[in-house]
Amino acid sequence: MPTTTIPTIPALTGALPRVEDEIRQLATSSTLPIVNEFSGRITAAGGKRLRSVVMLAGSLALTGEVTDKAVTAAACVELLHAGSLVHDDLMDDAVERRGVRTVNAEWGVGPAVLVGDFMLARASQAALESLSPFAAGKLAAAVADLVEGQVLEVLDLYDAHRSPDSALRSIALKTGALFRVGCVLAAHCADASEEVAVRLSEYGAHFGLLFQILDDLLDLASTSERLGKPVGNDLRQGVYSFPLLRALTDGQREFLAERGRELGDAELAGLLRELRGGRLVDDTLAYCGGLAAQTVRALPEVGESDALGVLRELPLAYVEWARARI
Ligand code: FPP
Ligand code: MG
Ligand code: MG
Repeated sequence: MPTTTIPTIPALTGALPRVEDEIRQLATSSTLPIVNEFSGRITAAGGKRLRSVVMLAGSLALTGEVTDKAVTAAACVELLHAGSLVHDDLMDDAVERRGVRTVNAEWGVGPAVLVGDFMLARASQAALESLSPFAAGKLAAAVADLVEGQVLEVLDLYDAHRSPDSALRSIALKTGALFRVGCVLAAHCADASEEVAVRLSEYGAHFGLLFQILDDLLDLASTSERLGKPVGNDLRQGVYSFPLLRALTDGQREFLAERGRELGDAELAGLLRELRGGRLVDDTLAYCGGLAAQTVRALPEVGESDALGVLRELPLAYVEWARARI
């Protein structure tokens, strides 16, 4: 397994278990334990907790500590993210995530819809009760963005003539919005100025785009063992992503327009091989390098600190993390 790691500092590593505890509490039902089995399927497997890392580093950079409010805000964002993945796996018909069978694969459509809704409800309740009406409103608006981004994706399914810009618009909403709101909440919990909040939210929006473009690249160019989920899923499901649309030759585009809906395993493997041999990887990584620089430029001008250093290193380190998985 590649070893490239995401930059961190002890104050962040020490604070992440606080987020984990809070996620567990929020995702727990005291009346119906089966709900915990459903939600545990996605929350226990964890993932990289990148949204939390960005939010907690923001809290540290702005206040010098990881405040309890910042921890709660991170738990709310992670819970929304987890809920959206449960729904996403249902929509994508995915059977495995992070090496674990999905809720839809294990229990079917009903539990997957309901547990996603449960997580969404618990995150909203915590934001209102433990943070503020402002925070709850921002999170609700981000959920609407996620849904809109997902709707745009669904409307373009199997459209081989989809423009890269249309894909970009969809991922800015379905992924960028949650990173952005995480940064807005980190600034809000730190009582930061409007200017700092705007800059940090731009950082989050750009980082979210970068994250999703690399996720989309890995779906085309990595291996199932390295990712903990099957590769080629997007192509199979008709999600023609930003990296794919930029890399397709005219011939490949026409092939997808004609055969996309009934691609067999051999055809899919052949197309993936061709794409990997073409400009896909170099072109996407170069684009992401530019986006990483843009992300860093958005950082607010606050006093130098280790936490600010993490925020500065994170975008490029993530590009390298992805490169090591190709
Ligand atoms: C993962 O993308 C999915 C998203 C980033 C957003 C999904 C949003 C919804 C399903 C709307 C409903 C939202 C809530 C809060 C209940 P992907 O499929 O490209 O990534 P993957 O490869 O990890 O599956
Ligand atoms: Mg998916
Ligand atoms: Mg999806």
